Amino acid sequence: MKERPIVSEQEMQRQREYMVRVRALEKRPKRYHIVTMGCQMNERDSESIAGMLSAMGMVNEPVREQADLILYNTCCVRENAENKALGNVIWLKELKKDKPDLMICVGGCMTQEKGMAAMMKKRYPFIDLVYGTHNLYKLPEYVYRVLTEGEPIAEVMDIDGEVVEGMPEARRCRFNAFVNIMYGCDNFCTYCIVPYVRGRERSRTPEAVLEECARLRDDGAQEIMLLGQNVNSYGGGGARFAELLYRVDQLGIPRIRFMTSHPKDLSDELINAFGELKHLMPQLHLPVQAGSNEVLRRMNRRYTREHYVALVGKLRKVCPDIGLTSDIIVGFPGETLEQFEETMSLVREVRFDAAYTFIYSPRAGTRAAEYPDDTPYEVKSERIQRLIDLQQAISLEVLEKQVGKRERVLVEAVSTRDSMSVGGKTPRGHMVNFPGEASLIGQFVDVEITSAGRNTLRGRQIMTEE
Ligand code: SAH
Ligand code: SF4
Ligand code: F3S
Repeated sequence: MKERPIVSEQEMQRQREYMVRVRALEKRPKRYHIVTMGCQMNERDSESIAGMLSAMGMVNEPVREQADLILYNTCCVRENAENKALGNVIWLKELKKDKPDLMICVGGCMTQEKGMAAMMKKRYPFIDLVYGTHNLYKLPEYVYRVLTEGEPIAEVMDIDGEVVEGMPEARRCRFNAFVNIMYGCDNFCTYCIVPYVRGRERSRTPEAVLEECARLRDDGAQEIMLLGQNVNSYGGGGARFAELLYRVDQLGIPRIRFMTSHPKDLSDELINAFGELKHLMPQLHLPVQAGSNEVLRRMNRRYTREHYVALVGKLRKVCPDIGLTSDIIVGFPGETLEQFEETMSLVREVRFDAAYTFIYSPRAGTRAAEYPDDTPYEVKSERIQRLIDLQQAISLEVLEKQVGKRERVLVEAVSTRDSMSVGGKTPRGHMVNFPGEASLIGQFVDVEITSAGRNTLRGRQIMTEE
């Protein structure tokens, strides 16, 4: 993979100056609210956005209606994500009628779609700022200009993308952190819009990644998730992903995970890392997308079902307890019933811990959007329901096998269903809820698994003398 230019330190200094200038303005937003849609990449970007807005002198406002700056960090991977973002934005028009000083910003993947920024500028003139994925670092300059010039800005850069280092950040969590190792994607799966809105693959240097991880560790991180659309094609400073992983492992952070891995590039070296690295958790998200070779070919996934099954075999040999999860698309253009049955049989064969299933959604500009598609939507809905039922039954069986085990859980939060319980993940990635207090959040707790639910486990804390 190519190395891309890094946005210059001079430019970042200019942006830091804009942060100071916004802070000095008398009439400026004081409280911000960010709505994050989509994947972990967007979540990580929102941490940078929060960092920049804080440096401009604003504080986070959890209630959207009470904020004076609302920013939507959008996703467009499927049509429903896009509709949700647009629906939200239209609603803001009403809010602005009551609060004329409200500043509305829309950024992220959706604005990067062809023609989208121009359409938004024309149809939604109440939006103060539209920016894209490649110029996020310019947010301070844009906010300053909107506040001082009083004119809306819609600026999206149509470039391959750069690597940005040194943005301020406000992490959402101290003990559990996302670390970007690369940006963009070059795979052009025929259904997918991500390469068009996130640009070409580009890696951060190993030094930048290691420095960030070490800093997070010193700040108390217990778990980190290395992020990229296809981490297997990482190539910063000529280093392979597996090499980077070995170096991150030596930092001594208790838990490391990564996502996402593309099956075509999952190397033996990386598979072996699951047997060798002390801190790498036995968990892998390895999206298969479909079980039919013909569908995989038309998706441009560049592997076969047999290759995928062989990878799973190798992974389970190196790490028998590995938790495998997947993404699956149902109703890809031209998918026959027989080809769908091949997805069902693959799911039966591999037995994922969990799978995220999606009905194919045509995205303008992608190759598959041009493919003929004569399967009615109702048929696709029936297929996905069958797949969901099958996967749920398998997930339940996998979870039931955990009952009676002792697991170390990193406690993440108070349980959403029961305020007397807390929840966290096992090394394999299963969520466990158990009676406990909020003071345990951020700590490792040994738990005995007592029962399995549909998606989560229940347990009880093991006291040290047991
Ligand atoms: N880079 C990751 C995933 C990116 S998008 C990877 O390669 O696996 C997350 C998931 O959304 C994909 O794995 C795919 O299953 C799904 N997806 C992407 N485009 C889609 C579309 N047009 N319709 C339905 N699902 C889609
Ligand atoms: Fe999309 Fe494929 Fe790239 Fe994943 S690997 S982001 S599915 S094009
Ligand atoms: Fe969505 Fe962009 Fe992620 S399109 S899935 S937020 S990379």
